[in-house]
Amino acid sequence: MQNTASVDGIVTSLEDARVPVLDRGFLYGDSVYEVFRTYQGVPFLFDEHWLRLENSAGLIYMTLPMSSQDLLERVRETVVASGAAAEKLDVYVRYAVTRGVGPIDLDPAASANHSVVIIVKAIDSWNPEFYTSGVTLAVPSVRRNPGNALSPNIKGGNYLNNVLGVIQAKQLGADDCLLVNDAGFVTEASNSNVFFAVDGVLVTPSQHASNLQGLTKLTVHRVCQLAGLNCVEQSVDVPTVRQANECFLTSATREVMAVRSLRLENGEVLKFPAGGGPLTQQVAQLYKDYVAEYVNDNRHRALF
Ligand code: PDD
Repeated sequence: MQNTASVDGIVTSLEDARVPVLDRGFLYGDSVYEVFRTYQGVPFLFDEHWLRLENSAGLIYMTLPMSSQDLLERVRETVVASGAAAEKLDVYVRYAVTRGVGPIDLDPAASANHSVVIIVKAIDSWNPEFYTSGVTLAVPSVRRNPGNALSPNIKGGNYLNNVLGVIQAKQLGADDCLLVNDAGFVTEASNSNVFFAVDGVLVTPSQHASNLQGLTKLTVHRVCQLAGLNCVEQSVDVPTVRQANECFLTSATREVMAVRSLRLENGEVLKFPAGGGPLTQQVAQLYKDYVAEYVNDNRHRALF
């Protein structure tokens, strides 16, 4: 397959795709986006991603220019053009809606047409060690944006807060950051949610702590409930993290990924079992089973 993009319906190879320099997504990060992947061609949680895009758009006073059905058709066209459909290869799909081209002016009133960009590429190939052993995290000095300044539920084109987190985490020798908020509570990693196992209970930071309502996180809640595992959202402070004996990340592209170490801000490094402890492994399997079931129930929606 060839990585492919669709910019307002014009399909090209990903490298050849262009957006105008006056696009507000480029000028101001004035855009919203989603990322999902397919399994056996089935767009996993397509409807839920669309609802989250609608929510992001609402939070930035943007009216979406197309329906979810039209978007899905455009995604299908792009997947077919990429060759992935013919080869029956699963893909990563990122779609973004920007407020389009306009004068260089923060007020979006004069911008004409929204732009819809779809990127279809091969599934992310994470370093295999991230699964066999786990990722390493570090708490950077940069704080997660407060929710009343820039809501973490705006999944939008401005990820500078998260970019700074990653840069600082790399400077500290880690693979990714674990962002804390101004009050010192854990929020999330740069582009995934985080869970800890504390005394046999799975704990993930609540919405109040500034984090995106991850769909993988919600799926983990669902599968844990069905399996009778105790999984809660609450404030997570550093003493709680110190008590944890397992830690993992969740996102559409990472699925359930074990964390093998976490460097706290004071330099202390917490270690977690390589490859994930028993709860992490159980949740990873439950997630896989859920995906398989979803694929079975949604074959009629497959893109190929
Ligand atoms: N990121 N938190 C942030 C800041 C994210 O950007 C993401 C998703 C998540 C996890 O959400 P979900 O489980 O719905 O993927 C949490 C996507 C994968 C990305 O930007 O590539």
